[in-house]
Amino acid sequence: MSEAPEKDRGGMERLAVIGAGKMGTTLIHAVIDGGLFSPQRIVASGRREEPLAELAEREKVVITGNNRAACRDADTVLLCVKPQTVGEVLAEIGPELNPRQTLISIAAGVSTLQLESHLPAGLPTVRAMPNTPSLLGAGMTAVCGGASSTEQHLEKADKIFACMGRTVVLDEKHFDAVTGLSASGPAFIYIVIEAMAEGGVKTGLPRQVATELAAQTCFGAAKMVLETENHPALLKDDVTTPAGCTMDGILKLEEGGLRVTLIKAVVEATRSAGGLGAGS
Ligand SMILES: NC(=O)c1ccc[n+]([C@@H]2O[C@H](COP(=O)([O-])OP(=O)(O)OC[C@H]3O[C@@H](n4cnc5c(N)ncnc54)[C@H](OP(=O)(O)O)[C@@H]3O)[C@@H](O)[C@H]2O)c1
Repeated sequence: MSEAPEKDRGGMERLAVIGAGKMGTTLIHAVIDGGLFSPQRIVASGRREEPLAELAEREKVVITGNNRAACRDADTVLLCVKPQTVGEVLAEIGPELNPRQTLISIAAGVSTLQLESHLPAGLPTVRAMPNTPSLLGAGMTAVCGGASSTEQHLEKADKIFACMGRTVVLDEKHFDAVTGLSASGPAFIYIVIEAMAEGGVKTGLPRQVATELAAQTCFGAAKMVLETENHPALLKDDVTTPAGCTMDGILKLEEGGLRVTLIKAVVEATRSAGGLGAGS
């Protein structure tokens, strides 16, 4: 493994990614692809040599098995370990960090207050909550700042996550709701896609075709909402001819309680997200 390099005085920022797993490596690829950081300005750390070596081969970033060395020259430290490992890793890197650096964590359920309890006073923290479609550049990430972060730190984080999809800056009090909606939401939509496809199969469509029709329909409907910025109810009305077949289908959805079930799913996922970061 190569050690973290001497600080480049070129004036561009350096990024340390602690925990180069699924999310960490996706973020690395996205920020390089988005032109935000060049590979030689990124240091990735992890526990196992083999995946790190593969990452270095693929992305040409600097790798190290030493989290503290990775942070030493970084302007931004992106913490991508599992929530249960956050406390241990922050206890390790905390003494290495100073308030000129920014720590961004993507650990689900770990508050900025919990992060700051392991860090030097005054160190700016940002908490981010991405979702799995980020892996394909179609993510939704919410970011919020901790006690010492400013507009500038939020902007820095926003630019990083914008390389993986859409972003929104939100007050931290909404983060359980973000977890319940956009982070859990892909699973709800997969069930909707699966169920719509089953409807197609029931009416005679080949399964693969039915799944493609259902998935592209969800994708297209989401794109219509995002790009027209019309209220979903207005877009629904556009598809619904009086006395037509769509209205017959909607009647069945209402009868089955799809709307209220989805509302309850988000509310329940939000409620249980409240307990995720316990112990970090
Ligand atoms: N996946 C998602 O869609 C998603 C969405 C939102 C938020 N998140 C958050 O993103 C974080 C990472 O999730 P993930 O899915 O990317 O998990 P992951 O693939 O398991 O990545 C975590 C990485 O951290 C490494 N690691 C463990 N202990 C370490 C240590 N002491 N020092 C340095 N590296 C260490 C792991 O190495 P080993 O493999 O050797 O253990 C692994 O490579 C989690 O906090 C999660 O809550 C994920």
